[in-house]
Amino acid sequence: MDYLEIKGGKKLSGNVTISGAKNAALPIIAATILSDKEITLTNLPNVVDIRTLLKLLTMLGGTVDHDKTVAKINNGSITSTKAVYEIVSQMRASILVLGPLLARFGECEVSLPGGCAIGQRPIDLHLKALETMGAKIEIKGGYVHAMAPEGLHGANIIFDKITVGGTENIVMAAALAKGTTTIINAAKEPEVVQLCEMIADAGVKIEGIGTNELTIHGTDREPLNFKTVDIIPDRIEAGTYLCAGAITHSSITLNKVNPQHIRTSTDKLESMGCTFDIGEDTMTIYPPKELKPVDLTTMEYPGFPTDMQAQFMAVAVMSKGESLIEERLFENRFMHVSELNRLGADIWLKGSIAAVKGVDELYGADIMATDLRASSALVLAALVAEGTTNVHRIYHLDRGYDDLEGKLSGLGADITRKRESR
Ligand code: EPZ
Repeated sequence: MDYLEIKGGKKLSGNVTISGAKNAALPIIAATILSDKEITLTNLPNVVDIRTLLKLLTMLGGTVDHDKTVAKINNGSITSTKAVYEIVSQMRASILVLGPLLARFGECEVSLPGGCAIGQRPIDLHLKALETMGAKIEIKGGYVHAMAPEGLHGANIIFDKITVGGTENIVMAAALAKGTTTIINAAKEPEVVQLCEMIADAGVKIEGIGTNELTIHGTDREPLNFKTVDIIPDRIEAGTYLCAGAITHSSITLNKVNPQHIRTSTDKLESMGCTFDIGEDTMTIYPPKELKPVDLTTMEYPGFPTDMQAQFMAVAVMSKGESLIEERLFENRFMHVSELNRLGADIWLKGSIAAVKGVDELYGADIMATDLRASSALVLAALVAEGTTNVHRIYHLDRGYDDLEGKLSGLGADITRKRESR
């Protein structure tokens, strides 16, 4: 396994180019199952999760020609509809093939994704919605066995909770269903919007894109013919680099961002004393001498994103005062707290709320990554910790950050990937 050795205290400067959004690319790759023709995806992030899902398509019989940020996919040759545990257990977002496989082939088996470090991550809402659309669902041997031999039919779906993956699965299923499906309480993250736009550009009529109410008019199992899709910039990667600028009191410029998608992050950084130059697809951050504390509560889009919570906690650790951070979406998304405290942070937890007392100094230590966004928060803290910090188990990082150490080195950080000796 690899670890990152980071020597803290370096100022950052210069430009960093943001990659395509992992959480847009994953549902879009799954949606290619809805077509039996070739489709090209560009601006893919070069991360493990993308390679994992593309591998799943080839295991199902699809053909994939993938070169770092471009993939040509043709699922006209799919012969299997079984998404095996070996793949799904590596990346729970593989559950996104459930809707498209069922809609196109009338039957599929997908391994239950299981939970992960940040929470139980159930898929009950996905399954209930597919049953409303006429699917018969059985859970056995750790697999979801879904059947709809006559195809899926349109339905009125009301999600008890806003679910990004649930909305994406149902939008894809509804695209090939017979009749009209409405989704009330749909997610409207930018990644959901791009998925809807991709499907609409293939001729499926969708109303309400970008709102919490979607209406999809299905093609009754007529496969779709997609145009090339250029993946939107990763708003979470962008927010993470803004936090790197803030925590190191460095002015850096981000290229290939969508400023509209990261308004809550820039708004919160402004409340901490940062200012910004914002261009059409660029953004420069100017941090203050002293960061003010911040209060934030994670919400569904357009609220403050849960995927930025850990990174902002790291910045709050170095602010002057006390910050309160409430995590409302996941039941266990504070795994970074104990590791930050090992560096000298002063964070207290009470249920879903973290109280962060700003400190003047952090001290390098060996710390362990536990999940994707927690690991980036540990890297941010290590950038300002005195001395050397070794962040272990960075396979978590490699799942969702495209060349993090290369991009941070390019900004002037002293960060090296090393191989564990033991
Ligand atoms: C997506 O996960 C993202 N992953 C997550 O990003 C992100 O944190 C999350 O949305 C929330 O924004 C991808 O897009 C690949 P949800 P998803 O279904 O779809 C509960 C990252 O770091 N729920 O919106 O799994 C669930 O337990 C990852 O890139 C049910 O109860 O999230 C959670 O509490 C981490 N039943 C809440 O809803 C269900 O059937 C939101 O989950 C489905 C969800």
